[in-house]
Amino acid sequence: MEISKVVALITGSASGLGRATALRLASKGAKVVICDLPASHGASVAAEIGKNALFCPTDVTSEADVLKAIQDAEVHFGAHVNVGINCAGIAIARKTVSKVGAHDLGSFTKTLMVNVGGSFNVIRLIAARLAESESGVDGERGVFINTASVAAYDGQIGQAAYAASKGAIVGMTLPIARDLAQYGMRVCTIAPGLFKTPMLASLPEQVQNELAKSVPFPSRLGDPDEYAQLAEQIITNRMLNGETIRLDGSLRMPPK
Ligand SMILES: NC(=O)c1ccc[n+]([C@@H]2O[C@H](COP(=O)([O-])OP(=O)(O)OC[C@H]3O[C@@H](n4cnc5c(N)ncnc54)[C@H](O)[C@@H]3O)[C@@H](O)[C@H]2O)c1
Repeated sequence: MEISKVVALITGSASGLGRATALRLASKGAKVVICDLPASHGASVAAEIGKNALFCPTDVTSEADVLKAIQDAEVHFGAHVNVGINCAGIAIARKTVSKVGAHDLGSFTKTLMVNVGGSFNVIRLIAARLAESESGVDGERGVFINTASVAAYDGQIGQAAYAASKGAIVGMTLPIARDLAQYGMRVCTIAPGLFKTPMLASLPEQVQNELAKSVPFPSRLGDPDEYAQLAEQIITNRMLNGETIRLDGSLRMPPK
């Protein structure tokens, strides 16, 4: 899909990987829908981008919020949302059993609900609206990009909930691509290693340096725009479908 024809709804785009993707796509002529929580910096990211951006306060786990964001974007830009990029996510660190007892079920299911449920919610609602739209080259109608993590494969101590959520995102990528193939929609997932987003930038410099050294090559934290570059490639390269791509400098996480 040509970037200039893209209306991309990007979740979690008030910060980090989602923000970088919104900035990159908008700079290439795409329209971007900044979907993030009401209390996020979504409005200032949209203001920074200018007329090609719309902030829609959204909780990705809410059907009503996501439907409203899609509808508001259609009215604002006068076109269907044809790209969905799932960057919203939460991470918790808790062992299955610790001094305080068993891992609570509430935080486990919340992590699954935001990371996997939220991603699926966005895909299903955009895809249902797009299914009847006019198709482009090769019959293409839309592209979806999920964000997993290397934790889907090398989950560390304390990452049961996070790794389960990311593994589920990897697992649903192919079946959703198969479900949506008949409508001309593609689905890929990016599994990032360590990227310098507000989440990691808040760690002490020494910890950041240690993390950077653990990446075989290049031995540094990823720049969020490197994630955005891959997202752009997935949108424009129609042969990319049903696959999860690790973006990690060949990092394999140790147990802790
Ligand atoms: N930064 C990394 O090194 C790294 C590595 C692997 C995977 N990831 C994944 O990439 C994604 C983006 O991470 P990031 O580093 O940019 O994090 P980030 O914390 O900078 O951004 C995440 C955004 O998601 C939003 N969000 C959280 N819950 C939401 C909800 N219910 N509805 C809507 N928005 C919600 C937050 O408000 C925030 O703006 C996450 O899924 C994360 O798990 C990040």
